Amino acid sequence: MTTYRFPNSFFFGTAASATQMEGAASRGGKGKNIWDYWHEQEPGRFHGGIGPEEASHFYDRYQEDIKLMKEMGHHSFRFSISWSRLIPDGDGAVNQEAVSFYEHVIDELLANGIVPMVNLYHFDMPLALQQKGGWENRDVVDAFARYARICFDCFGEKVTHWFTQNEPIVPVEAGYLYNMHYPNVVDFKRAVQVAYHSMLASAKGVAAFRASGQKGKIGLILNLTPSYPRSNHPADVEAARISDLLFNRSFLDPAIKGHYPFSLVRLIAKLGFLPEVEDGDAELIRMNTIDWLGVNYYQPRRVKAKEHLPNPEAPFMPEHLFDPYEMPGRKVNPHRGWEIYEKGIYDLLINVRDHYGNIECFISENGMGVEGEERFRNDQGVIEDDYRIEFIKGHLKWVHQALQEGANVQGYHLWTFMDNWSWLNAYKNRYGLVAVDLEKGGHRTVKKSGWWLKNVIEQKGF
Ligand code: BG6
Repeated sequence: MTTYRFPNSFFFGTAASATQMEGAASRGGKGKNIWDYWHEQEPGRFHGGIGPEEASHFYDRYQEDIKLMKEMGHHSFRFSISWSRLIPDGDGAVNQEAVSFYEHVIDELLANGIVPMVNLYHFDMPLALQQKGGWENRDVVDAFARYARICFDCFGEKVTHWFTQNEPIVPVEAGYLYNMHYPNVVDFKRAVQVAYHSMLASAKGVAAFRASGQKGKIGLILNLTPSYPRSNHPADVEAARISDLLFNRSFLDPAIKGHYPFSLVRLIAKLGFLPEVEDGDAELIRMNTIDWLGVNYYQPRRVKAKEHLPNPEAPFMPEHLFDPYEMPGRKVNPHRGWEIYEKGIYDLLINVRDHYGNIECFISENGMGVEGEERFRNDQGVIEDDYRIEFIKGHLKWVHQALQEGANVQGYHLWTFMDNWSWLNAYKNRYGLVAVDLEKGGHRTVKKSGWWLKNVIEQKGF
């Protein structure tokens, strides 16, 4: 009996990204991106010293992997194109080997009845463009628009589900505030410029899609972190409003409403960090809003009013405006330190329903990273990841509830299909429905959660 039944049109699948799963980072004519370069420079910063060359080898094994996706009941699969594989220097000649690789992947998915959902940018700036300043440089915005046009020309006949970028706030916070991505800058003003240019690039990507006249739809994937105040005290509520403005509305509003929230512009102006803009930008953003929204959800953001004055000598940080708050009794994934709060997925879907015109959306990532899963392997060789099943169930119940209440949520993608290389964490935490055994040349085995989800997909619920 299914207690939580999803509509027949509701789709299930998984999400992944090029740098995290392809491997072959220096083969097939690929140019370097910031991850290849940074790993060469500082391998010690990556868990176990492992770099993107050793990502799960989808480049060589995509046929086997897609066959397994079919066996596991996938309706759709979201992956990204590697900009530096397609255009090695980011803005010059197109690499035909890459065109042919992505064509094969798309064909293989379609032949197996799986809808390819293609994202253009997932944290992987081509090195040659980073050397020119990356998203800080306006020329890179135009290089992105050109890259998008090339992708639509090459693959638009077969791909109808597109995204400009995944989680554009992450390169901003990780690369320009918190020292977790290259170029390891800590500078709020530069972070604002990067955020603004990546949003502008997304709008130009949408414009290029519309101009191509191709069928289908284009969207943006945002990691929404609902901001909860510690209490109803006005100072805590204000802290939550500011963190929501900075981390959610800075992308949600321009992408869907076509303009930045006035209160955000006022706040950034007051701080003296407004970005450089050009005539015509506002119109470009207004005219090129997205068709649909991908929502990644892992954790909420809890905040409280500031309790201590920030050190006036320290560089300005978002945390100068509010303090993070650890709610007593919160449930935490100890491997990642992230709070698990299932109802957050419902809250953000209802927010999109009520404040963003109930735009078509889907859960484009949700998942649980766990270290040392080999210890759960049973005698039949299957990893018994019951915690992941509980995690998915807990979130799907709330997605179901949001659906009942009229949210326009059309599907659910888990992060991720198979264990993959996760940036600085490399292979530390495993997220896959399929285990990748690094000791055995990357051998794949479906975990218990993979078979469980297959059943959910077949039954349209659980
Ligand atoms: C998501 C990203 O935010 O988090 C993925 O889109 C990433 O690229 C995932 O792999 C998990 O991150 P981590 O750092 O826990 O491995």
